Amino acid sequence: MSNPSDLTLVIIPTYNELENLPLITSRVRKATPDVDILIVDDNSPDGTGEAADKLAAEDNHIKVLHRTEKTGLLGAYLAGFEWGLQQGYTVICEMDADGSHAPEQLHLLLEAVDQGADLAIGSRYVPGGKVVNWPKERFFLSKGGNLYIGLMLGTGLTDMTAGYRAFRRELLEAIDFDEISRKGYIFQVDVARRAVEQGFDVVEVPITFTEREIGESKLDGSFVKDSLLEVTKWGVAHRGEQARELAKEMVGLVKYEIDNKRKKSQF
Ligand code: GDD
Ligand code: MN
Repeated sequence: MSNPSDLTLVIIPTYNELENLPLITSRVRKATPDVDILIVDDNSPDGTGEAADKLAAEDNHIKVLHRTEKTGLLGAYLAGFEWGLQQGYTVICEMDADGSHAPEQLHLLLEAVDQGADLAIGSRYVPGGKVVNWPKERFFLSKGGNLYIGLMLGTGLTDMTAGYRAFRRELLEAIDFDEISRKGYIFQVDVARRAVEQGFDVVEVPITFTEREIGESKLDGSFVKDSLLEVTKWGVAHRGEQARELAKEMVGLVKYEIDNKRKKSQF
């Protein structure tokens, strides 16, 4: 019997991931040998794009899309989704290049899709999910932020900012990506909330997220504030007064985190 995951593409966006790229691709190839990989590189100054071409030349399961400009993570994913849909893949996944998303757990997401999910989210905050190598403050900001997002939007999801995902192609075709918020990484939240609102089956699968050891995060601190504002707008539209009260408390908490710690933080 055939499963949707029989034709799976994993998109790995890269910006300055020269050292990480060969590590992640070899792990994916080993863990899930039937899955194809699409590297989407935004003209990384460190030569990641050329390294990607070399990997692709040696392995026909690896493909590369070169973009001339860095227009953010959503831009890279959109180019990848479009390519994957056009090639006829039935499941398309998102995975970071820096090792935070373990390729050895990809099968968990694919199994969820084969069992009927339209979107499987690899989640840090469902029972069994974990975060490795994050300072305590960062963990609580991310967990708290996600709790806030879940409450605001009433989705029942615990990790809507997560970037380890498997989509059934029908869902990608149904989402109106022109309408999706492009601020930072908030598109992850926006896509998940639209999937739920449009009646798709969204499930969370516990995963272990491991902070990168090599290279730097491309996220900056303003993401937290921008994202919370955006989510609050959606929440107010969704739940009214109750959300307004919750928003006041959360803004206070985040201000405290940002002002006092001045630390780079992420959801
Ligand atoms: N092509 C391209 N263009 N790739 C990018 C860009 C871009 O503009 N920005 C980031 N990337 C790539 C990185 O090279 C990496 O492979 C992946 O996207 C994630 O980037 P990181 O900079 O490591 O992100 P993060 O660890 O701060 O954020 C992760 O966690 C967030 C919160 O859960 C990501 O998984 C996000 O998607 C997620 O929202
Ligand atoms: Mn990362």
